[in-house]
Amino acid sequence: MRALVLSGGAGTRLRPLTHTSAKQLVPVANKPVLFYGLEAIAETGITEVGIVVGVDSAAEEIKEAVGDGSQFGLDVTFIPQDAPRGLAHAVLIARDFLGDEDFVMYLGDNFIVGGIKALVDEFRREQPAAQILLTQVPDPTQLGVAELDAYGKVIGLEEKPKQPKSDLALVGVYMFTPAIHEAVRKIKPSWRNELEITHAIQWLIDQGMDLRSTVISGYWKDTGNVADMLEVNRTILETLEPKVEGTVDDVSEIIGRVVIEAGATVTASRIVGPAIIGRGTTVADSYVGPFTSVEHDCRIVDSEIEFSIVEHDTSVEGVRRIEASLIGHHVQVTPAPRVPKAHRLVLGDHSRIQISS
Ligand code: DAU
Repeated sequence: MRALVLSGGAGTRLRPLTHTSAKQLVPVANKPVLFYGLEAIAETGITEVGIVVGVDSAAEEIKEAVGDGSQFGLDVTFIPQDAPRGLAHAVLIARDFLGDEDFVMYLGDNFIVGGIKALVDEFRREQPAAQILLTQVPDPTQLGVAELDAYGKVIGLEEKPKQPKSDLALVGVYMFTPAIHEAVRKIKPSWRNELEITHAIQWLIDQGMDLRSTVISGYWKDTGNVADMLEVNRTILETLEPKVEGTVDDVSEIIGRVVIEAGATVTASRIVGPAIIGRGTTVADSYVGPFTSVEHDCRIVDSEIEFSIVEHDTSVEGVRRIEASLIGHHVQVTPAPRVPKAHRLVLGDHSRIQISS
């Protein structure tokens, strides 16, 4: 069995970060979202993984971060997609890589707590034509939605329906036999001009093939927007084992579940967990509050920040208070003369802004 991970796409909901960077690399507790998926695949025993990437700078970033996959115990092949033509198009162009093996398709911006080993094992055992995961969501209109019969069998699937037939959304992990290859060739582009995997699976249903579904009640998020990213980050930070490998001076206070990575320096500051401070980062004369991740080689000086993600090589100096923010890498945040009480920021990589303080 092989795995196909989808990490192309435009990432429009995370702009401006995704103008220059891949959304699948936004860090959750200082580790890219995509890496959690690759680790989950490695746990199933699958080693051959194809990663669909675009043909832009984000793709280059992904290739550099993942390398040959050996850091995960995987053998990774990159499959370039000329434009985001849809999830089923990704299957189409991966035909040679997938051969005639069964495969698990994993959307690189999906986050599933608890991994997928049990699900993949079940698929291997039962051998249906395809297996999908569903989960209950409050608003399924931006997702794929399943319609089930009285026995819980999926009888129809719709992509982003205005009037959903249920509250069961498709989670971004699918298990397929080679039957899907014919399906992706049979379907036509949708209103958003994409070849939808949802339609390809509907085609399997229409052919009377055995489609199974599993409803997961554990934690799942599509990390396509800022609120979901912060929420996933919060959840993962809550599971961290506290440890201090960097340097913390005597006047600083470290409270609760806090990780200070090696080479980080904390002086005259208060850090209230759950929080993580990356390697080589300086925190001085500052407050870092709960649910905050600061990646490596940042400077947080004379500032207050909480419930936020700060990517690497970014500096925040003389600013209070930052909340619910996602700040890209190589960003500089500095004070400007006048003062609003709180700042809510979504900053692209390499941006420079001035804030009243
Ligand atoms: O997150 C689950 C949802 O994912 C499902 O409920 C939907 O049925 C399914 O269509 C998909 O919806 P999205 O519209 O949210 O998919 P998105 O465009 O965000 O793409 C998902 C991942 O696949 C993302 O990592 C980018 C990548 N991708 C996307 C497209 C369209 C590609 O690699 N190539 C593509 O052509």
